Amino acid sequence: MKILLMGPPGAGKGSQSERLVKDFDLTSISTGEMFREAYKNGEPLGIEAMKYIERGELVDDDITNEIVCKRLLRKDAERCFLLDGYPRTVKQAEALDDMLEKMNSRLTAVINITVDKVAILERMIGRRVCKRCSATYHLSFKPTKVDGICDKCGGELYQREDDQLESVRNRLNIYETKTNPLINYYDNRGILRNVDGMQSFNAVYEDIKHALEDIT
Ligand code: AP5
Ligand code: MG
Repeated sequence: MKILLMGPPGAGKGSQSERLVKDFDLTSISTGEMFREAYKNGEPLGIEAMKYIERGELVDDDITNEIVCKRLLRKDAERCFLLDGYPRTVKQAEALDDMLEKMNSRLTAVINITVDKVAILERMIGRRVCKRCSATYHLSFKPTKVDGICDKCGGELYQREDDQLESVRNRLNIYETKTNPLINYYDNRGILRNVDGMQSFNAVYEDIKHALEDIT
């Protein structure tokens, strides 16, 4: 399975991908995670990317395409992968098509998680992420057992730099103009399914599984 998980910021892509990756033994490829990891490790790529991320802007297409290309060439992405947050522009989608074609491969399914704007704001303002293992929580919808401490690894939780209101607004606008057109791009190929992200974590997960069965 070669899956792309789409949806606006805060739709639940990362939360659902944590489970899908485990249950279906997929290689997770999240450009947002890759940029944050590079920043945490003090790599020049991460420091450059964080300038855009903090403001809620997209990182340059060429930089992003290059890191994805390198990642897709690694052995563990040969058979199955789950893309989260890439592609985000038509230029990136075309670059991905080229990369996959050269590898004699193609996307098998695109899942688009839909969520309304009020819920997005609520989800992002309350989101907390583990500094160590990147597990995602929510102050109200998915609280940790001990306040501020990750249930999985005991790491400290933090609020993402781009979860400030101004940055969230920017990300939503950019999603509408640059990423939304990709829905038609993939729908025209017959491999896209919409999933209602306004349901509980489990209900969204079940719908994604059904959608995948339907396509593959
Ligand atoms: P990225 O990390 O990809 O962020 P995003 O797309 O904005 O999406 P989020 O991670 O914010 O949300 P999510 O859908 O994963 O939701 P989550 O599961 O966490 O990208 C960050 C930045 O990196 C970009 O803005 C850009 O600058 C740069 N970047 C990344 N990729 C790029 C690219 N391809 N090109 C250029 N730049 C790029 O859930 C959110 C919250 O809601 C959590 O607290 C969760 O617990 C809660 N929640 C989830 N599901 C539910 C539910 N069903 N019910 C209740 N609460 C829920
Ligand atoms: Mg995410």
